Amino acid sequence: MIRARSLNKTYSENGRRVTVFQGLDLDCAAGEYLALMGPSGAGKTSLLQLLGCLDRPDEGSYELDGELVSDMAEEELAAIRNHKIGFVFQTNHFVDYLDLVENVALPGRYAGTGEPAAVRGRAVALLRELGLGHRLDHLPGELSGGERQRAAIARALFNRPRLILADEPTGNLDAQHTERTLALLEAVLDPGIALILVTHDRAVAGRAQRVLELREGYLQELPACAV
Ligand SMILES: Nc1ncnc2c1ncn2[C@@H]1O[C@H](COP(=O)(O)OP(=O)(O)O)[C@@H](O)[C@H]1O
Ligand SMILES: [Mg+2]
Repeated sequence: MIRARSLNKTYSENGRRVTVFQGLDLDCAAGEYLALMGPSGAGKTSLLQLLGCLDRPDEGSYELDGELVSDMAEEELAAIRNHKIGFVFQTNHFVDYLDLVENVALPGRYAGTGEPAAVRGRAVALLRELGLGHRLDHLPGELSGGERQRAAIARALFNRPRLILADEPTGNLDAQHTERTLALLEAVLDPGIALILVTHDRAVAGRAQRVLELREGYLQELPACAV
């Protein structure tokens, strides 16, 4: 599903340049469940943003599902993001004047598929599955950090994406909600879907089939016994 070759990414801000990675390669097949670890500032979020077509590499090629997305125009990327990719952001971006149901339903509204009532129904069902049935008409600002994180997962899964990218999705959760959240993400896995999850937690990473570590610009596959 993912074939990334020789990706380079450098940020330039106020005359300072930060090279996050150089010559990075990554393959991830459909059906794979991959954990991405690495110290804070290593570039995990930057890599996820490239894989999620929210950003482009400075150099290198990125093929998603056989399509060369690194060369695509912004409108094509927006369509790919909406239809193929479910992104759980590290800091959740919600529309603060829409209630939880409407926030979760937004990817469905953008996609324009399905009757409005069915779109709403799916949002309610996903929120209930994530234990947020009592918060349906609340505004994002009225939720705890952990509740927002679970709502972000419901939104990411809304359009049944083929590639799910989750940036520390259990970072703010207690043990019970970590288990519930991982179980929901993992339940979506099937031979056609890939899940890439960033985590600092070895117990979480240990649930994935492969564990990669990003450190000083390089990706290294960790043997299962090291996790
Ligand atoms: N938009 C940006 N502009 C400038 N520097 C950035 C930007 N985003 C991230 N960085 C820098 O890139 C490096 C990697 O950041 P990030 O991808 O967020 O790492 P991680 O998610 O592993 O903690 C950090 O040094 C960070 O300061
Ligand atoms: Mg990060």
